[in-house]
Amino acid sequence: MRILFIGDIVGSLGRKALKTYLPQLKQKYHPQVTIVNGENAAGGRGITEKIYKEFLQNGVDVITMGNHTWDNRDIFEFIDDAQKLLRPANFPAGTPGVGLRFFKVNQAVLAVINLQARSFMAPLDDPFAAAEQLIQQALEKTPLIFIDFHGETTSEKLAMAWFLDGRVSALIGTHTHVQTSDARILPEGTGYLTDAGMTGPRDGILGMKKESVIERFRTQLPHRFEVVESGVMQLNGAFIELDTATGKCQKIETIHWEDDPLSDEKGDEYGW
Ligand SMILES: [Fe+2]
Ligand SMILES: [Fe+2]
Repeated sequence: MRILFIGDIVGSLGRKALKTYLPQLKQKYHPQVTIVNGENAAGGRGITEKIYKEFLQNGVDVITMGNHTWDNRDIFEFIDDAQKLLRPANFPAGTPGVGLRFFKVNQAVLAVINLQARSFMAPLDDPFAAAEQLIQQALEKTPLIFIDFHGETTSEKLAMAWFLDGRVSALIGTHTHVQTSDARILPEGTGYLTDAGMTGPRDGILGMKKESVIERFRTQLPHRFEVVESGVMQLNGAFIELDTATGKCQKIETIHWEDDPLSDEKGDEYGW
């Protein structure tokens, strides 16, 4: 099973990058499932129903979220009906939405799990315990299990990967917006990448205008962060191949593409 995963889509430039590059990515990788993290899709904060539908129209099959899930209140209006959307499973009990969903892919079934880490983040339910419980649930239907683990620290994401090695097909980190270069298959067959990186503006700070971020660091005063909406755009993610019978990962590689939409030079100049 071929899976394309695309990291945190930030703002209008992120949505533009997705729409522009996804057809080309599909030509290159022939994914059977395309999963994107959409927690920053609406101006950097959350997602709207309009954007959710636009993603599906553009060829996305599954959308995962993170700590920005509730930032746009539109989500409360449509999350109960959004069959292709997941929010971190370890949010408090009773929270709207779900963190485990099953998707039929040709003759196989893929379980997608969304979890959120806790180091330097909100004190959610234990993601390790949640993972164990959800994996048990998933294994009743399929050995093909994909996890988006949304977390700040490399150590917590690595710990989760080693904890789950051989029990899930792939675990990819999101949230830091900076892609790591450690894509690998762990000894028991779990594909792993600490962070997929973000999709959107290249020349901001994690997608935000750099001036106000710099000022906040320099002065420690509050500054309003705004999303960068023009300039060079980038797309970051990963391509994964799974053995459909065993659920083991056979291949994982990172994807990085950047391109100036105003320039005549095309993406290949910058390389994949
Ligand atoms: Fe994010
Ligand atoms: Fe995040």
